[in-house]
Amino acid sequence: MTLSTSSSPAGPGSSGPSADEALRLLHAVPGVALLVRTGVLRHRFVSSVCSSVELRAWAFALERLPQPFVELAEAARRARSVVSEVVLEHGLAVRVDAIALTADEVAFHVLDVTEQLRVERQVLAAERARLAAQHLAHRASAERLSALATVAEGVGHEINNPLTWMRSNLEFVRGELERQGATRELLAALDEADEGVSRIASVVRDLRVLTGRSDTGRLEVVALLPVIRAAIDATVGVFRDRAPVVLHAEGAPDVRAHEANLVLVLVNLLANAAQALGPAAPSDDRVDVRVLGPLEGRVVVEVSDTGRGMDVETLTRAFDPFFTTRPVNVGVGLGLAVSRALVEAMGGRLDLESAPGLGTTARLSLPSA
Ligand SMILES: Nc1ncnc2c1ncn2[C@@H]1O[C@H](COP(=O)(O)OP(=O)(O)OP(=O)(O)O)[C@@H](O)[C@H]1O
Ligand SMILES: [Mg+2]
Repeated sequence: MTLSTSSSPAGPGSSGPSADEALRLLHAVPGVALLVRTGVLRHRFVSSVCSSVELRAWAFALERLPQPFVELAEAARRARSVVSEVVLEHGLAVRVDAIALTADEVAFHVLDVTEQLRVERQVLAAERARLAAQHLAHRASAERLSALATVAEGVGHEINNPLTWMRSNLEFVRGELERQGATRELLAALDEADEGVSRIASVVRDLRVLTGRSDTGRLEVVALLPVIRAAIDATVGVFRDRAPVVLHAEGAPDVRAHEANLVLVLVNLLANAAQALGPAAPSDDRVDVRVLGPLEGRVVVEVSDTGRGMDVETLTRAFDPFFTTRPVNVGVGLGLAVSRALVEAMGGRLDLESAPGLGTTARLSLPSA
């Protein structure tokens, strides 16, 4: 038998019930009641509503007061009443309420809590396993990022110089072609080459952010509403014919953030939401942008869509750099990875909640100003 340490004294000045009253009360509640006078077990009552076979058997077999009950009786005499958990034979776990009725009378109410404790232990073990898995996943992702950082730095260095010449040469060629009256097709081909260069430059920039090699800027007090409006305005084109974007942000508080980066993050989240809806979205599809807080020094911005949602595999990989489920040339797979890096550089967090067919909520939490 083991005596647990949790015990609570009754409030000061509370006067105990009479022995008769106490026994009547104890008889009517599930479990077993015991009455001890001058240290000797005088009565045992097995309530008609006691459904535990093990507890009934224990109570009927009881000849002497077990040691933990002797200690609880002592404690109850000092504090008037105490509550404790005790593990009896064969793993039977009970909750014991000990009440001092008079100077030498103590009543016990004993309840079987074996099942309840087993469930609590299981929940605790599952929570520990979840935290351990999360810790491992974080470590693996940190290791991948640090390997990527080295590659990104080398690649970025090698690519930036040629990109600069390509840009200036493309500009030079455009000037010459325009001067010589080149055809529209030639100029369109040049536009495409220009777009390709910009895309490479943006991937290199994103990689530098992702690997912490880029200066993510100073934090300042930023008013949320104009930032959210700017992001919505920037994505008007992708939402055309898809769904309305509904803003719930009256009285949105200020946050500590980097304004331009925050707009970029919200643009990424809104673009993902629009892409999840698809072009032929049903009329009740929508995207909600909601501001919550401040609560405990944090402000939360949620971007929720009613789109296709994500399965567990997609959800667990969504923040991985270069993970994308979109066609080639449509998605690079850097939007969420870069957004999370930018948000973390502002002292915030970015998380996703999603289920297939039930839409997605991206939750961005930032320090309030
Ligand atoms: N709101 C959403 N609904 C459903 N799936 C989403 C949503 N947001 C992200 N995803 C999934 O997560 C993947 C990664 O998203 P992420 O924004 O990082 O890259 P991407 O959108 O594919 O490309 P890009 O680099 O252009 O942003 C997406 O390809 C998609 O499968
Ligand atoms: Mg994206």
